[in-house]
Amino acid sequence: MKRTIIAGVGHYVPENVVTNLDLSQIMDTSDEWIQERTGIKERRWVRSDGDETTSSMGTIAAQRAIADAGLEPNDIDFIVFATLSPDYYFPGPGVQVQENLGIDTVGALDVRNQCSGFIYGLSVADQFIKTGMYKNVLLIGSELHSGGLDKTTRGRGVSVIFGDGAGAVVLQASDDHSKGVLTTKLHSEGKHAKELALLGPSTSHWVDRIIEENNPEDLSYYPYMNGNFVFKHAVTRFQEVIHEALNEAGKSPEDLDLLIPHQANLRISQYVQAKMGLGADKVFNNIMKYGNTTAASIPIALSEAKAEGRLKEGDLLCLAAFGSGFTWGSALIQF
Ligand code: ACO
Repeated sequence: MKRTIIAGVGHYVPENVVTNLDLSQIMDTSDEWIQERTGIKERRWVRSDGDETTSSMGTIAAQRAIADAGLEPNDIDFIVFATLSPDYYFPGPGVQVQENLGIDTVGALDVRNQCSGFIYGLSVADQFIKTGMYKNVLLIGSELHSGGLDKTTRGRGVSVIFGDGAGAVVLQASDDHSKGVLTTKLHSEGKHAKELALLGPSTSHWVDRIIEENNPEDLSYYPYMNGNFVFKHAVTRFQEVIHEALNEAGKSPEDLDLLIPHQANLRISQYVQAKMGLGADKVFNNIMKYGNTTAASIPIALSEAKAEGRLKEGDLLCLAAFGSGFTWGSALIQF
């Protein structure tokens, strides 16, 4: 049986910085409110007159991860792309990355699972690698939220939280069992699907309907979030799923060198950190700079943590996510 190691990491965020002050010019909000509730100071939003997309950002992050692994695009034998904001309703962006990077006709799998998409993708890739089916899997998380948010005061409870960006990793088969992915844990609870959701456009909410019903203000075309409800479930599920992975590997929170939680909200991460008795230096946060980039947040954070020297070879790393679905998951990795 092979082990899955992280051979390369990379990320990309758009140049355009949108501060809380910028948002307060277009909606009734304030830097104080946003920082106090979420910890976010600024986020990156693609320029609305530019040509950046979820797949173009994902492609740049992928190129950086492939270079970091010391590989060429054609060394990749499978692509997994996690996003909730694909360029098109179909096809998903995995095939666009395959085309953009000029990779031969390898398989390209698109993963949904929203904020947990990167963990779900990692778990799938890990199974392919462990069984010997693939050697170098490119896993990307990329999101373009800014184009689909309600940027009026009506949408302020959601729109101030989300940012654009992409992260990628190259997962590689290794015979060295002293490192790599130790375990992944995945969960879902569909009864809460509508507590954090974007209902349309979709087969249940076609765009035609708003035109037919002459209702351009139909809120089902903007993301909805029951903030308090999501917060309460997130803090519980994060802890559960981190403990579940640690227990399975025979480890405890004290063994962790770094926890990279999905960057949902700084208050969620700090609550989990305190409840698990972890020092602040053991939890990586960059939501202050980027907001919540859903499936992209963990690989962006992973890439930054490595660049900042927060992650060293041999460190015990836990990745954990919770989000829409609800879905949640964790991965325990000897880096
Ligand atoms: N600026 C100013 N005021 C605002 C804003 C804003 N951006 N957004 C909402 N408000 C107002 C509301 O209108 C409300 O006003 P009212 O009392 O006059 O009605 C007041 O602030 C309180 O609103 P709540 O929604 O109750 O605010 P809350 O304290 O719950 O904070 C928040 C909202 C930040 C979303 C919080 O519920 C939260 O952190 N939830 C967790 C959800 C989360 O982090 N999601 C991330 C995405 S999901 C994921 O990745 C897991």
